[in-house]
Amino acid sequence: MENILKIQDISKTYKGSGILFRKKDKLALDHVSFDIKKGEIFGLVGESGSGKTTLSNIILRLVKESSGKILFKGNNIASLNKDELMKYRREVQVVFQNPYQALNPKKTIGFSIEEILKIHDIYSKEERRKLIRDLLEEIEMEEDVLNYYPDSLSGGQKQRIAIAQALVVNPEFLIIDEGVSALDVSIQAQILNLIRSLQKKHNFTSLFISHDLNVIAYLCDRIGVLYKGELVDLFDTYDLESDDRHEYTKELFKSISL
Ligand SMILES: Nc1ncnc2c1ncn2[C@@H]1O[C@H](COP(=O)(O)OP(=O)(O)OP(=O)(O)O)[C@@H](O)[C@H]1O
Ligand SMILES: [Mg+2]
Repeated sequence: MENILKIQDISKTYKGSGILFRKKDKLALDHVSFDIKKGEIFGLVGESGSGKTTLSNIILRLVKESSGKILFKGNNIASLNKDELMKYRREVQVVFQNPYQALNPKKTIGFSIEEILKIHDIYSKEERRKLIRDLLEEIEMEEDVLNYYPDSLSGGQKQRIAIAQALVVNPEFLIIDEGVSALDVSIQAQILNLIRSLQKKHNFTSLFISHDLNVIAYLCDRIGVLYKGELVDLFDTYDLESDDRHEYTKELFKSISL
């Protein structure tokens, strides 16, 4: 399979701040390299603070890397011009750790979803409405939800809506950062199954981030393990139990298979 995203030797140091009580610099990513293949769900696992969200933010160009580069479909994302960057911001979407972040509490769900399509200005009003209706059907939600405010939704429903918001512009690449961590286990499974079926239908590639190896192993085709900013292991999910795994991966695996 061809690669869609190449992460090449990425390092990130957050500079310490403060004058009187200067905090130390923090090396959040340490020469991380790996490729994501077109059409796969790649799982990035690691404990809190291992650098997962930092890497996601660098891919999204929300945080600047200290060194290294990222290629999306062969192009260095640091050297995209204005138009290319706009296109990139549509092709690469994210579902954040906290779904509250993505939904404006003062706006109805329908307004928030349509707003995204308006920003990208790609469809007529009728096309927008149809697209949203089709997408709602796919995430198994009734149309009345469009008139609701985010506060009236359950955690699982919010996460479905956040996924719909990300997919409405038909991205090629979807980052899901701790997308199910806040949910009950039974709801988690529903959302993971939904992600898998949406991925089959829409053919997007995904980077799925979690601290929970159990979730990652359930959903993902390949797994990368981050430990203190270093990629210590990279393997096909079916090789999870192999002896070749890094000690840290084995520790993570032991803790889920108890
Ligand atoms: N804006 C920032 N300024 C300074 N340090 C930061 C900043 N963002 C993250 N860090 C530090 O960088 C390291 C990696 O953080 P990051 O958020 O990428 O980890 P994570 O793997 O996503 O953790 P979690 O599972 O808790 O979401 C941590 O030590 C964190 O404190
Ligand atoms: Mg994080």
